[in-house]
Amino acid sequence: MVCCSAPGKVILFGEHAVVYGKPAIALSVNKRISSIMSWGDKKTTINHMELDEEKQPFLVRAIEKTNIKKPLSVTTESDLPSGAGMGSSAALTVSLLGSLHALKEEDTENETIAEEAFDVEYDVQGSASPIDTSTSVHGRAIFISDREEKNLLWSISKGDKLWNIHHMDLPDMKLVIGHTGIHAPTGPLVKMVGEFYNANNFAKEVIDEIGMVVLKGKKALNNGDLEEVGRLMNKNHKLLRILGVSHPRLESLVRATRKHSYGSKLTGAGGGGAMISLTDKPEKVADIIEKRGGEPYTFKPSKHGMRLEEKG
Ligand code: PMV
Repeated sequence: MVCCSAPGKVILFGEHAVVYGKPAIALSVNKRISSIMSWGDKKTTINHMELDEEKQPFLVRAIEKTNIKKPLSVTTESDLPSGAGMGSSAALTVSLLGSLHALKEEDTENETIAEEAFDVEYDVQGSASPIDTSTSVHGRAIFISDREEKNLLWSISKGDKLWNIHHMDLPDMKLVIGHTGIHAPTGPLVKMVGEFYNANNFAKEVIDEIGMVVLKGKKALNNGDLEEVGRLMNKNHKLLRILGVSHPRLESLVRATRKHSYGSKLTGAGGGGAMISLTDKPEKVADIIEKRGGEPYTFKPSKHGMRLEEKG
């Protein structure tokens, strides 16, 4: 039996624009998904149910990637709320791939898992960047850029896009996530932005501007200037709103939390989903989110990315 666990993530800057090769910054969260696996009997099962491609597209594609033909018995455990904007599908994909390779007794590099996990997400979502999957593999925080810089971990490409994934050190900071309670799948939102992007230059300018905000955000983070980080988060949110991926419930949480935060913005694909606040008063902000009907989660960045665990 093998077990691989992987953390969830939040995006601090650059969602959507990163799909077009623009820079972005994401950090892992100290909540994880584990995939426990052994060789199965006659048919592959997941959580004691027969594998169903419709319900488990990530597992089906992860098995294809590793070329495993024998039945498997898979159990998943999670303390990562699903559909709360914390990258549960990426964490699931990464932990499944880690376990599948371990079961084949293959010593697989993080870079390989990151590439395979990106392919799986891309196939399932229809379009994606490697931000969620690479954050889950590496842990801590990552900076994505089309240029190679210091602390390069690996590079991933698709078509004419190239994403260089770098390790990033973050200053000490407190973040609170607020989930709207509205489940908004990523694929259709990425597609909607894609249509806007292909239809006119204005959307391209907004995406370019998000890229510039991310680079300023990186500088502010390196300087430990949380006030500037917060201002840039607010600006990033405004640009995402222009792209049409906000939602009245997100607007309500973002506005209400700003009174007690350096900055607040939607995080992830939007359309519902979640927002994030950078604050010195996490309890106060969590309280505001709850009073406005959202679900707050406080978290710390995870020190560990994907890892094999001792089990049983
Ligand atoms: O919805 P999430 O949290 O998985 O974030 C998706 C981030 C996007 O930039 C919208 C899509 C992507 O694959 O980069």
